[in-house]
Amino acid sequence: MLFKRVKPLDQILATAEKKALTRQLGAFQLTMLGIGAIIGTGIFVLTAEAGQKAGPGMMISFIIAAVVCGLAALAYAELASMVPVAGSAYTYTYGVLGEGMAWIVGWALVLEYTIAASTVCVGWSGYVNGLLAHAGFGLPEFLRTGPMDGGTFNLLAFLIGAVITFLLVIGTSKSAKVNSVLVVVKVLALTAFIFVALPAVKDPNFKPFVPNGWGSPMGGIGVLGAAASIFFAYVGFDAVSTAAEETKNPNRNIPIGLIGSLGVCTVYYLLVSYSAIGSVGAQPILGANGMALQPGTPEMAAACKASEALVCSKEALAHVLRMLNHNQLGTFLGLAAGIALPSVILTMTYGQTRIFFTMARDGLLPNFLSKIHPRFHTPHVVTLITGIFVSIFGAIYPVGQLADITNSGTLFAFMMVAIGVMVLRVTQPDRKRPFRMRLVWIVCPLAVLGCLLLFVNLPLKTLEIFFAWGVVGLVVYYLYGYRKSHLANGTEPT
Ligand code: ALA
Repeated sequence: MLFKRVKPLDQILATAEKKALTRQLGAFQLTMLGIGAIIGTGIFVLTAEAGQKAGPGMMISFIIAAVVCGLAALAYAELASMVPVAGSAYTYTYGVLGEGMAWIVGWALVLEYTIAASTVCVGWSGYVNGLLAHAGFGLPEFLRTGPMDGGTFNLLAFLIGAVITFLLVIGTSKSAKVNSVLVVVKVLALTAFIFVALPAVKDPNFKPFVPNGWGSPMGGIGVLGAAASIFFAYVGFDAVSTAAEETKNPNRNIPIGLIGSLGVCTVYYLLVSYSAIGSVGAQPILGANGMALQPGTPEMAAACKASEALVCSKEALAHVLRMLNHNQLGTFLGLAAGIALPSVILTMTYGQTRIFFTMARDGLLPNFLSKIHPRFHTPHVVTLITGIFVSIFGAIYPVGQLADITNSGTLFAFMMVAIGVMVLRVTQPDRKRPFRMRLVWIVCPLAVLGCLLLFVNLPLKTLEIFFAWGVVGLVVYYLYGYRKSHLANGTEPT
């Protein structure tokens, strides 16, 4: 039943053609778009968590996650160039694997977008709390982090989520110019970090290199556990593929944009993590049983209370600079993160509202969600609902747990996209593919396997949340979308 109700690709394309966009983006702009969406909480904050999970071996984790993303990126590029419409993986799946699977992917994308936005809210709060504390205006401890992280309510994460929601409701969107400025800010901050920390690297800080081993399925620790978490640092590159419709010569420029932005970020991530580990060390904190503690747990929060270790920091990179006695640069880096990270929250929240919007337009979610504000011309209802959840999750949950949940949904969506590419090669071999991936029968199976490998290395708790969310989704689908679907009822709006 899940595979029935396939929405013909031509029907999907007809919707897109009604509002055709001009092809104006080149390889450089696409690469900037990708870097703008990619660099964020992952490298600025989760480096500490990755250190706790893998120690210096987190460098291998960064590489593994980059390879999986690179493979998935190619699959995204092929589908995005064939079906260049809003809704991303949800829409592609609707056109290939049918409504039931599309619903599941759309439901999983809520984890990718909403929870990623919350993750970045928490990451941002870590840096801004650090800046305030150093300026002598620190918030009381209980307002700095959520209950699992030693506090009660993460006030700043909540507030930034609310501000971004407000901006989206009144119609703020990210302009290409603002994006370019923010990319420069982020890249400058990371470059300055590398310049200062790299010369301070000492060999002994890399030993032992893999203190927690390679990890075991559902353990969420070790090199693979860290790869499954640090995967978050690359999430967002699909922004490039969703711009396929606006790209000049997509067959050449989309792969350059995707692989280019992933490549630049990977090089930066490796240099930053190498410098951080080598200059101040990144050995995990062990519990009484000699095993590394799970980040984002009360035990870890307690062990970190009086610790200066990198793996405990909520503002990892600024912390390293301060430990190296570069206080002013630490403040500069904190400011750069404070300025640049909100744009990632904006992109993610915006992406979520557009996916909900597309699902509501297909009749799978109630119509009131696609209501447009008479004055601001924005989908304010769905934006407000999304924003409330983004802010509340940010106020309560630890950054690493949110990142892991994001990754579970994203990895699932990536797998579906890679499967979709293979299915279409068989079922519609002659359809026009503005970007045609080479070696599809090697790349796509590897992408699926890579995503599976990372998926099973997420912590058990994350996988439980993912599957529970999936069950709720299926119930909602059978109670609502299955009956109301425009495709099934022939009530497609024209
Ligand atoms: N990759 C983005 C980040 O790290 C989502 O914040």
